[in-house]
Amino acid sequence: MIGGALRDNALAGKTIVVTGGGTGLGKAMSTYLSLLGANIVIASRKIDVLEAAAVEIENHTGNPVLAIACDIRNMEEVESLYEAAISRFGKIDVLINNAAGNFISPTERLSAHAFSTIIDIVLKGTANCTLAFGKRWIENKQVANVLNIVTTYAFTGSGYVVPSAVAKGGVLTMTRSLAVEWGKYGIRHNAIAPGPFPTKGAWDRLLPGDLQEKFDFKNRVPLKRVGDHQELANLVAFLVSDYAGYINGEVITIDGGEWLQGAGQMNGLEAIEPERWDVIEQMIRNNNK
Ligand code: HXC
Ligand code: NAP
Repeated sequence: MIGGALRDNALAGKTIVVTGGGTGLGKAMSTYLSLLGANIVIASRKIDVLEAAAVEIENHTGNPVLAIACDIRNMEEVESLYEAAISRFGKIDVLINNAAGNFISPTERLSAHAFSTIIDIVLKGTANCTLAFGKRWIENKQVANVLNIVTTYAFTGSGYVVPSAVAKGGVLTMTRSLAVEWGKYGIRHNAIAPGPFPTKGAWDRLLPGDLQEKFDFKNRVPLKRVGDHQELANLVAFLVSDYAGYINGEVITIDGGEWLQGAGQMNGLEAIEPERWDVIEQMIRNNNK
């Protein structure tokens, strides 16, 4: 069991809005940020899920968690989210764009509506929240930061999740662009690119049925394991805290080395049995003669 990385009350006095904060990784980060003393606002479409998560987190940490129903595709709902957070906590210090939609599919099977549904949630939803919050932060001269949750295929692209890859690539570009443009207002932008961290939301849509055994993520990771939610929460807490005050425009990968394993041309040689290396070495030495 991995523990928390930051000191007690490291985030006391901060208010943090986490989209998609009622489930999966969003819930894990909200729980740890709350444990560190922050006021938390969790926002997504399903209010019953959010309210249950808010009660659970509050009971665990003793700090306030506000649940707000908000479809981030709808700008009016995003504006209301901002207003609700302000009227409860007075100011917002951090926005974590964590909400996402995704499913695996050969791209040629997708309808135009299916493709745009993912773009609307991941790219436009993130833009909606960033714009609504950013405008007000700039107006009010509020120092703040945005943390975007992307994926490692935001760098590489990936088949079978093309709308998600396109959208996450766009979010990463937005992260780097606004880090520069809004740096002068004291607004930092960073991103995290997680590798495999089991959650019901992701696993139901990426590894349904027997795909879980057939396509075991552990085998793709040099460390031979999936991520622990607390490992991600620790990184999130650091990046949104004042300790990371000079980190701006960065994307931090947390994937046990997964994407590099896929990228390195000769990494497949891992499959060679160790005892064969004597023979291979000899063949190469002979060829040198
Ligand atoms: C093909 C599909 C489909 C599928 C939906 N559609 N599922 N097409 N294959 N499996 C099509 C529908 O037919 C419809 O198009 C369009 O997509 C919109 O579908 P709706 O169900 O109406 O959309 P909506 O209710 O808005 O739900 C959005 C959703 C859903 C993305 C489809 O799965 C959702 O709510 N997801 C939220 C949570 C989530 O996805 N979490 C995973 C994040 S994991 P038509 O043309 O028929 O109208 C992640 C991990 C990254 O990002 C990397 C991990 C390693
Ligand atoms: P998850 O539990 O399914 O989280 C997705 C969240 O987004 C849900 O809480 C969902 O809540 C919310 N959401 C979806 N559409 C929304 C909308 N239109 N408006 C508002 N909220 C919406 O999956 P997860 O694995 O924790 O994913 C969290 C983040 O990590 C995502 O950005 C994902 O891409 C990223 N990620 C995950 C992994 C992984 O291995 N798990 C790897 C890389 C990146 P509602 O249904 O209530 O709206």
